[in-house]
Amino acid sequence: MKIVLAEKVSPATLAIFQKEPGWNVVTADKIAPGGLPAELADADALVVRSAVQADAALLAAAPKLRIIGRAGVGVDNIDANEATRRGIVVMNTPGANAVAVAELTLGLMISMCRAIPRANAALHVGKWEKKSLQGSELRGKTLGIVGLGRIGLEVARRAKAFGMNLLGYDPFVAPVIARENGVTLVPIDEIFSSSDFLSLHVGLTPQTEGLINKTSLAIMKKGIRIVNCARGELIVDEALAEAIKSGHVAGAALDVFRHEPLKDSPYFELENVLLSPHIAGSTDEAQEAIGIQLANQVRDYLKLGVVQNA
Ligand code: MLT
Repeated sequence: MKIVLAEKVSPATLAIFQKEPGWNVVTADKIAPGGLPAELADADALVVRSAVQADAALLAAAPKLRIIGRAGVGVDNIDANEATRRGIVVMNTPGANAVAVAELTLGLMISMCRAIPRANAALHVGKWEKKSLQGSELRGKTLGIVGLGRIGLEVARRAKAFGMNLLGYDPFVAPVIARENGVTLVPIDEIFSSSDFLSLHVGLTPQTEGLINKTSLAIMKKGIRIVNCARGELIVDEALAEAIKSGHVAGAALDVFRHEPLKDSPYFELENVLLSPHIAGSTDEAQEAIGIQLANQVRDYLKLGVVQNA
């Protein structure tokens, strides 16, 4: 059995594979730049995070491949249709980084309304800018959550503790789940028009791509703040940058981008846009949980034919 770990995984993750007698485990540091296709020629399993594009060309180089494990949630870097056509199972680890993403989401919301990055930057150069740093509170504000899956619900629970009013949009969630988490389900337009904060927690699909665009921004409440820890493609960047420049949108905190790493962006010049390099799921705890969960799933599939997405 040959397992190719195309991106860095934790020692505990590696140990699960290495424990299996006779398994050949190839780690990312042993793969030469551009050498992944050759490594896959006789591989049974491929494990990726978000950097490797498991597209049709790469899969064509992997004739024996039986499974692709995505260490994380979004599978948009994997051509699932092509994988299915080739009989390759695709698994991810939904849930394992939900708390990490939810905590960063709340952190970004607080950072925006208390201007923490600006306060920090000013004091690091000796400026005591107390007067210009009066902020606002989350308490009593309305948070619109688009997507009430595991991450959206973790965000809801934490925002509730801050005294926020919660609106949610998710055509797939059971109303009872929303109710139990204190979220009022409303149509998407009402989310846009009634929210003081908007947080996105949906995957990238043809239906969600470009959800935040000129038209949806126009119906948003003036002064809204937007957080995106989901996928960059959900937002039309030029439209959001314009809405921020005009003052219609008070701020945005963005962890994900259409093209990563982000090299050039209309957001760079906007002071009230907080940027982070796709780190929402990157905590020690989440990465450990994801790696172990995925390794167990991949091993069980190869050994027992069991398909599970925990
Ligand atoms: C995910 O899809 O799991 C997150 O965006 C984190 C990541 O891609 O690494």
